[in-house]
Amino acid sequence: MAKPMVKLFLFLLFLSLFLILSLLRSRSPQQPNFVSPNPSSSSLQIQIRPGIRSYDDYLKLQLNKTLNPRLRRVWATRDWDRKVAVFHTFFRNLRDSGFLSNNSRALCIGARMGQEVAALRAVGISDSIGMDLVPAPPLVVRGDFHAQPFNNDSFDFEFSNVFDHALYPERFVREIERTLRPGGVAALHVALARRGDRYSANDLYAVDGVTTLFKNSELARVRNVDGFGLDTELVFKKKKRRR
Ligand SMILES: *[C@@H]1O[C@H](CO)[C@@H](O)[C@H](O)[C@H]1NC(C)=O
Ligand SMILES: *[C@@H]1O[C@H](CO)[C@@H](O)[C@H](O)[C@H]1NC(C)=O
Ligand SMILES: *[C@@H]1O[C@H](CO)[C@@H](O)[C@H](O)[C@H]1NC(C)=O
Repeated sequence: MAKPMVKLFLFLLFLSLFLILSLLRSRSPQQPNFVSPNPSSSSLQIQIRPGIRSYDDYLKLQLNKTLNPRLRRVWATRDWDRKVAVFHTFFRNLRDSGFLSNNSRALCIGARMGQEVAALRAVGISDSIGMDLVPAPPLVVRGDFHAQPFNNDSFDFEFSNVFDHALYPERFVREIERTLRPGGVAALHVALARRGDRYSANDLYAVDGVTTLFKNSELARVRNVDGFGLDTELVFKKKKRRR
């Protein structure tokens, strides 16, 4: 081989090595921007949806549905009575089963316009309030279920049918356990047989995907329900403090 050819070959070899190395190096610092897989999502029982790159992306997605003027009109009008009636049967059942009483202080997590709060009040649980990213006075105050705006031990009862919207399911549950008083009850409606819609942030494949997140509570009841696409009701009871 002629000398210039060897030089050219070596030059190209080094150049490509350099390019490969710099490519590899430029990629790794981007990783922290992505939602890192957490322990619960790596199990097969619950999985965080791919494609949500950051908490800001997540908020934008949720607000897109919550602020949709057409949907808000539907929720406040022709949806209202139908939903309140269904929630009414759920809460009456929970009260008849001893999980809820007229004296309970109750919170509905991810309540949007507040149909579940209206149902609780109609059932006789007057000290009840809802919480969502967008407030809907007077029934729903502003709050993110990943960081509830309430003190520890604030509620006797918490209800939610938006577990599938949680980007960080373990934080969703930790906040419930923090704000429930000892002995308090959490009732969650989840989808096991069906998949959520495009606004869901996680997919649940087994009851254990939720129960293992409750570190300080006991599973008190599991039953099938027919709740707006959600098929399973899980009732947890927070443990009393040890004396
Ligand atoms: C939601 O997203 C759609 C496009 O997917 C857009 O047209 C609409 O303006 C968005 N709405 C809000 C309230 O962000
Ligand atoms: C609870 O409230 C409802 C509605 O106001 C009432 O009908 C019911 O009797 C109350 N239950 C108890 C145990 O006070
Ligand atoms: C509230 O509860 C959390 C754990 O659930 C605990 O770490 C924190 O110290 C408590 N805060 C107060 C003010 O008691």
